[in-house]
Amino acid sequence: MTQLVRSRAELAAARVRSSGVAGVVMTMGALHDGHRELIRVARDRCELTIVTVFLNPLQFGAGEDLSRYPKTLESDLALCTAENVDIVFAPTVSEVYPESEPQVRVSAGPLGDVLEGASRPGHFDGVLTVVAKLLHLTGAGVAYFGQKDAQQLLLIRRMVKDLDFPCEVVAVPTVRDPDGLALSSRNGYLSAEDRTVALALSRALRAGAAAAPEGPAAVRRVTADVLRDQSGVDVDYLVLADPVNLHDVPEDFAGAALLAVAARVGTTRLIDNLVVTLGGR
Ligand code: PAJ
Repeated sequence: MTQLVRSRAELAAARVRSSGVAGVVMTMGALHDGHRELIRVARDRCELTIVTVFLNPLQFGAGEDLSRYPKTLESDLALCTAENVDIVFAPTVSEVYPESEPQVRVSAGPLGDVLEGASRPGHFDGVLTVVAKLLHLTGAGVAYFGQKDAQQLLLIRRMVKDLDFPCEVVAVPTVRDPDGLALSSRNGYLSAEDRTVALALSRALRAGAAAAPEGPAAVRRVTADVLRDQSGVDVDYLVLADPVNLHDVPEDFAGAALLAVAARVGTTRLIDNLVVTLGGR
């Protein structure tokens, strides 16, 4: 039976009644099959599965989509029930931030200033602050995050390591529609036409990955060419970066590199990435 809890007190009470290692899947709601996959991995490996549903205002900048972000708690609960989630924690903003905006926040540091952070100042401080709070409130021993948000995943790993959180972080591969589009709660903003245009992102990443044997310059060129050939894609960034420090990889780089793109299609900002293995030359 899935238990819905709305307050810290209810969550604490539900946790006292439960035993064993708890796995948490943190979400902002509008759940889709990407979230479902995280939940399934957590369910398979943990004795207790907790899903948090919280649209975190702290990670949205002025003029971003906080007010239009889809809110679908009823169907989110149905998905969690179907997946045998033990506890859904869906608090209000004042439950999470009782003193209004927190004075003290987690700082993402330099890794939070590039790529997504360059376009969304303060975004990762907001993400890390809520993730830290939700780790504390849920008492989870394992937390599951999607590779879809590669920079977020990297920063959460760094926070857990740098600040000694007693928690394991597990990455889950990106879930895609059969045509390649990475699932996202924001895909609902896309018109049918936009959606076709948006396919250029995953198409470009695949083409770029296929050029890996020719080295980083070829990967970047091929990926950029596909994006340029699709009208309606306004690229914010395209990088082939070292997944540890997010620096652009040099031409002789060997190993796994992150090929990541952010672009605006219509009014929607989309991100996607692939891990590309380079041979070094
Ligand atoms: P949200 O965008 O709802 O995503 C919740 C989790 O689902 C994240 O770990 C994200 O990487 C993962 N996810 C999203 N789409 C995915 C896909 N297509 N395949 C696999 N995993 C996917 O990310 C957030 O919320 C927030 O920033 C949060 C971490 C909850 C903090 O507020």
